[in-house]
Amino acid sequence: QLMSLISSITPKLIRHASASLHSIKARKVAVLGASGGIGQPLSLLLKLSPMISNLSLYDIQHAKGVGADVSHIETRVKVKAYVGNDELADALKGMDLVLIPAGVPRKPGMTRDDLFITNATIVADLVSACAKNCPRAIIAIITNPVNSTVPIASAIMKAYNVYDEKKIIGVTTLDGLRAATFVAEAKGLDSTRVFVPVIGGHSGNTIIPLLSQISPPVPFSQPELDSLTYRIQNAGTEVVEAKAGAGSATLSMAHAGARFSFSILDALNGKAGTIECGYIASPVTEFKYFATPLLLGRNGVEKSIGVGNLSEYETKLIEKAKHELNAHIEKGIDFAKQYL
Ligand code: NAD
Ligand code: LMR
Repeated sequence: QLMSLISSITPKLIRHASASLHSIKARKVAVLGASGGIGQPLSLLLKLSPMISNLSLYDIQHAKGVGADVSHIETRVKVKAYVGNDELADALKGMDLVLIPAGVPRKPGMTRDDLFITNATIVADLVSACAKNCPRAIIAIITNPVNSTVPIASAIMKAYNVYDEKKIIGVTTLDGLRAATFVAEAKGLDSTRVFVPVIGGHSGNTIIPLLSQISPPVPFSQPELDSLTYRIQNAGTEVVEAKAGAGSATLSMAHAGARFSFSILDALNGKAGTIECGYIASPVTEFKYFATPLLLGRNGVEKSIGVGNLSEYETKLIEKAKHELNAHIEKGIDFAKQYL
């Protein structure tokens, strides 16, 4: 009896499994800055994904070693490594998603904006190559200062006439993951079930957690709001100081970058209701660029979910961030004008 039950169910299961596999189109993903503190663990996590067919690992140094290493993992993802500017075009051709963690990280005492002088040019060069070689790819920018590097990337794509506002996203996922972790710790919740929308930008005061819109809803006292907001806004600095000169967050960022990538790939494959926070050209606020929860879709960002009903406290946080965020955005736009 058992055998006949199994033989009647098995073909259905096989049909179901192959139908789900056929609905997934495996995509081509590139990591620019693949040999770095973020790039290496991010490449590892991407190599484990059934949603990826090809992984293109590019850096100005050591990428061949990283590529050889990661390529020995027994998953289906085909890995190819590229080193130096001469190989950049080949690294990018045919890509659906390009992740950019290339550039220098902070040391104690530095702000993210202090990285601008080095990282602005790196991002501008890499995005120019994307415009020429994979103009339809989604470009996810991890390189700091994100508040400025995203406006730079957008300006470059505009200059090449290939700008699509749905496809350039600053990765702020780590802010939300930190917020969920810290809130769960403080309130005795399961951190994997907590979602905290984090809006604004990705530097100090511009990181704005919306603790009034947390899921599941939890009440906070004013001292709790103050201390959690402070910790979320300064979590990057917490890691920079703990690493004491050896860089900034890499492992948690690799996880955040992989999670963001998988959401993008799920949405490209038609999974409905996929939401991640991200920093984009803002259609919903007074700011030119702003992070909000984003509904992702078959073309990248389907729409910004907006900022919801803000508490008085959160409205004040935005007011406090205004000057810094606008200055960072304008700095990126001005840089791009000179670069182009
Ligand atoms: P890292 O120094 O360990 O690695 C950077 C890598 O970029 C190196 O391998 C380097 O060779 C490579 N690189 C430099 N110039 C390049 C170029 N022109 N083309 C390709 N590769 C190039 O730094 P990291 O710790 O991996 O951090 C990288 C960036 O990510 C930093 O700017 C950091 O501030 C940022 N970051 C952002 C977030 C976020 O939440 N968005 C979180 C953590 C770190
Ligand atoms: C972070 O938030 O960890 C990153 O932006 C890196 C940094 O400089 O803090």
